[in-house]
Amino acid sequence: MTYFIGIDSSTTATKALLMTADGAVVGAASSSYNYETPQPLWSEQRPELWWDATVSSIQQVLAESGVAATAVKGIGLTGQMHGLVLLDKNGDVLRPAILWNDQRTGAECDEMRTKVGKQRLIDITGNDALTGFTAPKILWVKNNEPEIYAQIDQILLPKDYVRFKLTGGYATDKAGGAGTQLFDVRRRDWSVELLEALEINPDWLPKTFEGTAVTGTLNTAAAETTGLPAGIPVVGGGGDQAANAVGTGAVVDGIVALSLGTSGVVFASSDEPIVEENGRLHAFCHAAPGKWHLMGVMLSAAGSLRWFHDTLAPDTSYDDLLAPAAAVPPGSEGLLFLPYLTGERTPHPDPLARGAFVGLTVRHTQAHMARAVIEGVAFGLRDSFELMKNAGLPPITQIRASGGGTKSALWRQILADVLQAEIVTINTAEGAAYGAAILAAVGTGVFESVEAACEQLIHVTGRTKVSGDTAVYDQIYPLYRQLYPALKPTFNAAAKLA
Ligand code: XUL
Repeated sequence: MTYFIGIDSSTTATKALLMTADGAVVGAASSSYNYETPQPLWSEQRPELWWDATVSSIQQVLAESGVAATAVKGIGLTGQMHGLVLLDKNGDVLRPAILWNDQRTGAECDEMRTKVGKQRLIDITGNDALTGFTAPKILWVKNNEPEIYAQIDQILLPKDYVRFKLTGGYATDKAGGAGTQLFDVRRRDWSVELLEALEINPDWLPKTFEGTAVTGTLNTAAAETTGLPAGIPVVGGGGDQAANAVGTGAVVDGIVALSLGTSGVVFASSDEPIVEENGRLHAFCHAAPGKWHLMGVMLSAAGSLRWFHDTLAPDTSYDDLLAPAAAVPPGSEGLLFLPYLTGERTPHPDPLARGAFVGLTVRHTQAHMARAVIEGVAFGLRDSFELMKNAGLPPITQIRASGGGTKSALWRQILADVLQAEIVTINTAEGAAYGAAILAAVGTGVFESVEAACEQLIHVTGRTKVSGDTAVYDQIYPLYRQLYPALKPTFNAAAKLA
């Protein structure tokens, strides 16, 4: 029997998942850590945490599963995207990594638009400048920490720091590379024009690989530390969203992955690069070789329900909170909720966007509010679907749902009705780490292609069909759409007061 390890270095933990060559998950171990917010809008983490957590998770999954380390034949990497890791010429970390959810780079996003031109930026990278992406973070270090900037020898993404520790080599994958916003997304590699315009030294950037390509092998030092034998191939892997899409089978036209965790992500694979004309959707390379994807990211999806629960009903279980909401009519009797509790990315890239209940009356109960929250999240996700349709994405035939929020049958039904498409659940729940393990298995020749692996390994386990309520939501959606533009000036002013 041969095995593959998928490693997912997320914002809160690094997970190691062990998969057999026929796709069965035999174990997973996770080691947690925190991130720091040393100043408002900042989010940082020490890269060493990812490596320590990688080592302990690998050791733990091997020990608990009883699988012999020599039976592991490939490693796939995934993790939080867009984070900036800076190394000096000795490969030492220069400062804490600046993470994907850091919002300090508003001025540098403007600088990028000025230097490159907003439309040219969208043409090349597929995206408008966004505070979360890597490129403006590099400019921020240049503008604010020149002494650090002067020592840069290598720029990596979080997952690629783990790769460096495993293999001793510098490399990144195409999906992660595109997420830096320094990629020519159509050519699937660094954009010389952009690097010149932003005066970023191309030597600082690692070589880029497709998700299944072997980027290096486990070196002796990492072998000794992890307990795995030296020489195991490490494939490109992909950013967490692209790897999650592999793990849910969103690798062909028509299948969309919808993940409802703290954030909500709508991810559609495409055989051609498609760019939304205003750059409101993320257009990146897929971890499936030669494919692209469009993605909409809502920052507070299940996070909105968690906030509601923790703030207003901390002693109630989620089931008990949502049960009475099922009896409230669709539309929550005129109550609307805007889910921008931590600012927003899609469709309004605005760190100062704020949440709101609109339309409250004395008739509204906690059940109405709970229902309005999950309906508001569904409307926010519909915004991404509308942008995708308008950008020319081939028709969506199936939405594959994953993440904590989709455990609720009520939420799945509301999603099917608001998005007007069947929501299916699948047999795998391990997401990005599973996708990374699949990429390793494909890269070492177990499967002919990512598509073939997904077809063989991932199956539909449940279906939620569109109900008669869809017509009501179709009437309410335009009202939801009116709220952000109407409230934006208030949100901006209120954010400044806080
Ligand atoms: C994707 C994104 C998040 C992070 C955090 O664009 O920002 O998925 O990768 O995990």
